[in-house]
Amino acid sequence: MYSQQALALNFDEQSSSEKTLVPPIKIQGIKTKLIPFIRENININTASTWFEPFMGSGVVGFNLAPYNAIFSDVNPYIIDFYNCLKHKEITPEIVREYLEKEGKKLASTPTDKSSYYYEVRDRFNKEHNPLDFLFLQRSNFNGMIRFSKNGYNVPFGRKPNRFRPALITKIVNQVEKTQEKILDNNWTFICSNWEEAIKQATTDDFIYLDPPYIGRNTDYYTSWNSEDANKLANYFNEHIDLHFALSMWYKNKYRKNDHISKWRGNMVTNEHFYYLGGHETNRNSITEALIIG
Ligand SMILES: C[S@@+](CC[C@H](N)C(=O)[O-])C[C@H]1O[C@@H](n2cnc3c(N)ncnc32)[C@H](O)[C@@H]1O
Repeated sequence: MYSQQALALNFDEQSSSEKTLVPPIKIQGIKTKLIPFIRENININTASTWFEPFMGSGVVGFNLAPYNAIFSDVNPYIIDFYNCLKHKEITPEIVREYLEKEGKKLASTPTDKSSYYYEVRDRFNKEHNPLDFLFLQRSNFNGMIRFSKNGYNVPFGRKPNRFRPALITKIVNQVEKTQEKILDNNWTFICSNWEEAIKQATTDDFIYLDPPYIGRNTDYYTSWNSEDANKLANYFNEHIDLHFALSMWYKNKYRKNDHISKWRGNMVTNEHFYYLGGHETNRNSITEALIIG
C-alpha cells in the first residue's frame, strides 16, 4: 500500500527561526528535537481543529496547533496536569513553592530505596496530586512515564540534589510559557482512548499521531501491541479523507520497521545520531519517519 519515495532530511541541516516551546512534563519518545522537522513538513490550516490523541508531553501540538485543538491521552495524570494549568489551579508560583519545599526534602535523603522520591511515589499512587506527578517526572530515571498494575513505577534518577535553584527556575518557566499558550488558545484536554478522541474529526481538521513505537517503546500507561498498531493504520486507510501525520521509527542500524508499509500517505525521514558511552566509534543512527496522509 505504501509506495512514495523517502526523502532524507538531516535535522542538523534544517534551519528554524521559531523557538521550540518545551513543556514541563517529560516522557520517553518525546518529540522536542523533531519539532522543526515536523513543522517544515506539515501544512496546517489555521481555521482547522488539531487533534492529538497520543499527546504525551504535548510538545508537538503546543508548538504547532492552531487556535482550536483537542489534546488527549489514555493517561489521566497527563490530562489532569494540563487541565490544572488551563484552569489556573496550578500556576508558576505554586510550582516554585512546591518544588522548593519538596526539593529540599529530596536533597536530605539517601539515593537508595529509602529516598524521599519513593515517599512521593507512594503518595502519588494514593492521592494522584498533579504536582507530585511533576516532581516524579523531573526526578525519576530518564524522564520516563511507566505504570504497572500497582501504579507509577519508574525508579529514582539517583540525584538527591536534583532540584537546584536553576532547575526549579527552568521548570517554572516551562510551566509559565505552556500555561500562557494554553490560555491564549481554545485548547481542550481529554482523557480518552485514541479512537473515541478522534470521532469528531472532520475532513477540515488535522490529526497528529504519535502512538507508542512497536518494537521500541510500548510501555506507558496501558499496553500497546501490533494489533493496536494495525487497528490504527486500518482506521486511517478506511477514513481516506482524514488528514493526518504519523510519527514512527523507520530504521536503525539493524532493521527497518515493517509496520510502516501498512500506512497510506507520503513519507519524509529524518536521521539523527546518538552516542553510546560518548565515543565516536559508538555512534548510532536512528531514522524517524513522518507519514503524511
Ligand atoms: C510516544 S508517546 C507520545 C509522545 C508525544 N508525542 C511527545 O512528544 O511527548 C505515546 C503516548 O500515547 C499514549 N497512549 C498509549 N496508548 C494509547 C491509546 N490506546 N489511546 C490514547 N493514548 C494512548 C501514552 O500514554 C503516551 O502518552
